[in-house]
Amino acid sequence: MSTPLARTPLASTPLVELDDVSKYYGNIRALEGVSLEVHAGRITCVLGDNGAGKSTLIKIIAGLHTHDGGTFRIDGEETSLSSPREALDRGIATVYQDLAVVPLMPVWRNFFLGSEPTKGVGPFKRLDVELMRETTRAELLRMGIDLRDVDQPIGTLSGGERQCVAIARAVHFGAKVLVLDEPTAALGVKQSGVVLKYVAAARDAGLGVVLITHNPHHAYLVGDRFVLLKRGVMAASHTKDSVTLDELTRQMAGGSELEDLRHELERAPAPSRVGGHDAPPAP
Ligand SMILES: Nc1ncnc2c1ncn2[C@@H]1O[C@H](COP(=O)(O)OP(=O)(O)OP(=O)(O)O)[C@@H](O)[C@H]1O
Ligand SMILES: [Mg+2]
Repeated sequence: MSTPLARTPLASTPLVELDDVSKYYGNIRALEGVSLEVHAGRITCVLGDNGAGKSTLIKIIAGLHTHDGGTFRIDGEETSLSSPREALDRGIATVYQDLAVVPLMPVWRNFFLGSEPTKGVGPFKRLDVELMRETTRAELLRMGIDLRDVDQPIGTLSGGERQCVAIARAVHFGAKVLVLDEPTAALGVKQSGVVLKYVAAARDAGLGVVLITHNPHHAYLVGDRFVLLKRGVMAASHTKDSVTLDELTRQMAGGSELEDLRHELERAPAPSRVGGHDAPPAP
């Protein structure tokens, strides 16, 4: 894999830019003063604990929620998206953790769900099944995914493979920005590695990627920029060469909070044993 420094220089206008963005749910502050940029061929990681505001942030980028303050720009133009459809039309594809797939339908059918090509006209119009099969196979192969059979139900694929199909689909349909919500959260070590490889492949295909995760190890493997959220505010923003994995992990875990927890756990009394023997069995 190439190093971030070896890749092409940044284009001056980010694909997506959040500047000092905030979002309130009633009077609950979910986000305040968050800024980030998404560039073509770069991976921006958003890290944070439960409730930090990660999903809120991507819902704004994905067009599910509108922001309350600050500016949201797409290709340099100030925007407020009103629906996920509008986000998609502007080249922003979002892959949610609970992927919206139809488990019993073949892989190729899911690949084209909602955008099926047809052939013939008038009463002879029908789905172009062969084209869908062939395109799915070819697109997956192009991403380096060699599925045995694109006719198998997508429900028979592993969680990691399904994430990969969703990434390949976004690339095929011409997304410029790919937003991934915790794609490795439910996966083991090996499958996480496979998914991260395809995240890198999407980056190499020129997409700007936003990777949401609470795993600093996964983020550090592929990320160019790390934005750390804590209770809705931006706790840090680092480039890869300005932070080590250890430091990122420490900030992510909340160094001092972890230290307090350690003290607390150490103070907890151990279960007592009398005279070095186990307590006598109950009568
Ligand atoms: N629809 C909503 N109405 C009211 N409060 C909400 C709503 N959605 C989120 N929140 C609150 O906003 C804050 C941020 O939530 P968010 O879901 O963005 O966090 P997260 O970082 O994605 O967490 P997790 O890791 O648990 O998914 C939380 O305090 C949450 O309770
Ligand atoms: Mg979330």
